[in-house]
Amino acid sequence: MAQLWKGRFKKALAKETNDFNASIGFDCRMFEEDIKGSIAHATMLGACGIIAQDEADKIAAGLSDILTDLQSGALTIDMEAEDIHTFVEGELTARLGQTGKRLHTARSRNDQVALDLRMTLKKEIDAVSDQLKALITVLCDKAAQHTQTIMPGYTHLQRAQPITFGHHLMAYTAMLLRDLERLADVKARMNVLPLGSGALAGTTYPLDRSLVAELLGFDSVSQNSLDGVSDRDFCLELAAALSVIMVHLSRFSEEIILWCSWEFKFVELDDAFSTGSSIMPQKKNPDIAELVRGKSGRVFGDLTALLTVMKGIPLAYNKDMQEDKEAIFDAVDTVKMCLNAFTPMIDTMTVLADNMRSAAAKGFINATDCADYLVGKGLPFRDAYKATGELVALCIEKGLTLETLPLRDYQAVCALFDDSVYEVINLEKCVADRLVEGGPSAQSVEKQIAIARSAIAE
Ligand code: ARG
Repeated sequence: MAQLWKGRFKKALAKETNDFNASIGFDCRMFEEDIKGSIAHATMLGACGIIAQDEADKIAAGLSDILTDLQSGALTIDMEAEDIHTFVEGELTARLGQTGKRLHTARSRNDQVALDLRMTLKKEIDAVSDQLKALITVLCDKAAQHTQTIMPGYTHLQRAQPITFGHHLMAYTAMLLRDLERLADVKARMNVLPLGSGALAGTTYPLDRSLVAELLGFDSVSQNSLDGVSDRDFCLELAAALSVIMVHLSRFSEEIILWCSWEFKFVELDDAFSTGSSIMPQKKNPDIAELVRGKSGRVFGDLTALLTVMKGIPLAYNKDMQEDKEAIFDAVDTVKMCLNAFTPMIDTMTVLADNMRSAAAKGFINATDCADYLVGKGLPFRDAYKATGELVALCIEKGLTLETLPLRDYQAVCALFDDSVYEVINLEKCVADRLVEGGPSAQSVEKQIAIARSAIAE
């Protein structure tokens, strides 16, 4: 297919140049957006009297036929074309003759590609957001089943204080809810129409940019033509938001991997979401979680690539910017692929509540509650802390827990102890009493679940 810019050239393009220059291999996925953008542009050209109404109508009809044919498979994209814009315009002209050649009036591929990419990424943001909502729903459902499932909460990966598995899952939900908000923010700032910026300096034609914005569902039109064609902040922001999603999925994956180990055995993944070893018959590996953790590196790489491509580009459009698409599409596709496997893996995993409960029994995770008991008896917290520390040391020495340490040992350390201490250090009670907003008690977690569910219902 011929280049759109052939006029001033005497020689044909070298094959090497074409292979290197072409972007059709990765921008062909924007065919629907390219065509819809062109239909809106042609409609506006007709409405503003820039081209004749009957020609605008023919162009719009021709473009929707092309779209139908591409969707049905009756027409395939010519991979020899320079890019998707060249292909669509060439196909239109092949079908309509002279009329097709009027489509590109008052437009450049520079504002066209900026438009197509925004349209494509808005759609992708919706798709990722739906996937995040599906994961949040799975987490809320699981958390609701485990508001009483005691497990150790950790700091420094050392057992720290008692929480529930439901509480732990809702921490990830909180992160994912922020991810949803971030995507919505990115989409709102992306929702500005660049078309009408022309190559860089706008156009002398009396365009109605607001009409195009309205036809394509954009909130507003860009206010500077140089920026309109050369802004890729929306790619950077999206790649950053996707990177944060991957940080969250990667941290979660790391925990899943730990929890699947014999050292923890807090969960067991479903056979359908685990893999084996070719040599070790006993192995059941959490490959999905490991791959998600690994693929986070890819998405961070895409963000770094985009930042690096953009940082030295003078205004306005430069061909470097063609590099935006592979990076941002890879980031989008990777996140979608990860969520696609991660969500059912979480949904189908078995929670080994007894193992969580016995781990919780062993790490003196009720020591803070024991100290708080003495505070309740009038002792200053620092003294209560010290006395409890001595009790923990005594337990370790005797191979006991705070629950099994005899009262006389308690009283030898501090006379304020009586029988009621055993009730206070009971793990179920330690959790149930943490009624503070955001805390691990069943009531607090139920409230967190309700808030999350209503946030995604909006
Ligand atoms: N394929 C190009 C891109 O993705 C489209 C814009 C081409 N513009 C130009 N002046 N060569 O950036």
